[in-house]
Amino acid sequence: GVAVGRRVRSKRKWGRVIGVLKDLEDSCDTTVGRLKQVVDAMAVEMHAGLASEGGSKLLMLLTFVDNLPSGREKGTYYALDLGDTYLMALRVQLGGHRPSILVHDVERQSIPEHLMTSKGEDLFNFIASVLEQFIEREQNGSGFPLDKRRNLAFTLSFPVKQTSISSGILMKWTKGFSIDDMVGKEVVECLQDALMRRGLNVRVDTLVNDTVGTLVVGHYHDVDTVAAVVIGTGTNACYLERTDAIIKCQGLLTASGSMVVNMEWGNFWSSHLPRTSYDVDLDADSPNPNDQGFEKMISGMYLGEIVRRVILRMSQDSDILGHVTSKLSVPFILSTSLHKDCSWRSFLHCYSSARNHCSFPLSIFRTSLMAAMHEDDSPDLMEVNRILRDTLEVPEVPLKVRKLLVNVCDVVTRRAARLTAAGIVGILKKIGRDGSVGITGGKSRSDSKMRRTVVAIEGDLYTKYSMFKEYLDEAVDEILGGEVAQHVILKAVDDGSGIGAALLAARNSPEDVDTAQ
Ligand code: GLC
Repeated sequence: GVAVGRRVRSKRKWGRVIGVLKDLEDSCDTTVGRLKQVVDAMAVEMHAGLASEGGSKLLMLLTFVDNLPSGREKGTYYALDLGDTYLMALRVQLGGHRPSILVHDVERQSIPEHLMTSKGEDLFNFIASVLEQFIEREQNGSGFPLDKRRNLAFTLSFPVKQTSISSGILMKWTKGFSIDDMVGKEVVECLQDALMRRGLNVRVDTLVNDTVGTLVVGHYHDVDTVAAVVIGTGTNACYLERTDAIIKCQGLLTASGSMVVNMEWGNFWSSHLPRTSYDVDLDADSPNPNDQGFEKMISGMYLGEIVRRVILRMSQDSDILGHVTSKLSVPFILSTSLHKDCSWRSFLHCYSSARNHCSFPLSIFRTSLMAAMHEDDSPDLMEVNRILRDTLEVPEVPLKVRKLLVNVCDVVTRRAARLTAAGIVGILKKIGRDGSVGITGGKSRSDSKMRRTVVAIEGDLYTKYSMFKEYLDEAVDEILGGEVAQHVILKAVDDGSGIGAALLAARNSPEDVDTAQ
């Protein structure tokens, strides 16, 4: 009798857990019909954001990048890339004709967590010191004369209201950064001052968002590239727009008749987005409630956190994970996207064997772990067990529970990837490249042959999380339909944000004009 009772109870509990999964699946619905509504909403918001300042949650920021580098750039340029939990310093040598990127040196340095929420001056002093060390280390190899001034591009991946290609004001922070005294400040001045305090002979002459760097590199490799998307810790997109469509800046003239627009799509919102109670709670517990709603459903900073919330709910409703561990209950965590110091596949190896070399807090359920669980191809999902044990202190769970958890990861990632796809098609629609008669008056398929259209994509979720990429690619095809989809190519780009910035710096201050002081 006792045993039967126990079996019935445990069946009931399992039923509840399956119910949680079912509810999650229902509320994460991304049928093609719904995605098409998101596509339309994205295109409409783009119009609104271009029509007037504050006209939409999409900021649609000017970048002052009006034509893209030609490939004839020449010289040695530097770039600093800030926008993640690490800072990147780069040196790019350009040869003057294609392929002109001869060498590039990259160095990543993780940003001490306290600097992300401290004072601006502390952060910029740190940035300057990283550049100083980078320059010192390369001295021998680079052949760059010691006393010659270096030109530097600054990639700052936050919303910046630019006033020129080399100046702009920080509007707000995203992705867990919050340094109040920086908001409203001229960011290039802050960096330039910090470099001067270090006595570095470096001139900051280019300021870009990471998406813009990605577009530049994408375009450099393939001239049909018209838009770029970043899906890493945060998510955003930019694209080439006709200046006459940027109605909020009447009289904006560029030689090319177009300008790259930084959408800041992380803040996109629409009632058509499939939102769950987990999203609502996550938002409320985040450092920036009511902000970056799209980003919170898509990017690396948040996916693992959504999954953690679902697993927590499941384990509260039942005892599938034994008792609820305190680790699993850690509320909103500023999780980084993926592990930067180790390659994706070797992450687990690094995690267990080289902890000392990794500046990676181990107690936290991160998107990288979620992806490792999702893509566990070991027999019987043994890695899932290992991750649960090592990160959440959950004792071994049965196979059916492991499968269930992989399912949770799948639902959350699939939604993210498909929403990203809808965003991309939204851009294509806005610029008349989705093969339809768009609200912008894009040509219909019968009017003209659909042109080859390339979208550059950067960020670990796309380049390192193969299930994410698969779902995204598939959804773009589904939304566009076979014939049109043939003309749309999504291309992964590596380190684009920094290299692209250096290419722009080369265009801005060509070295042929001697910049030595
Ligand atoms: C955040 C930032 C945006 C950046 C994106 C990807 O959304 O606000 O500027 O491009 O993250 O790094």
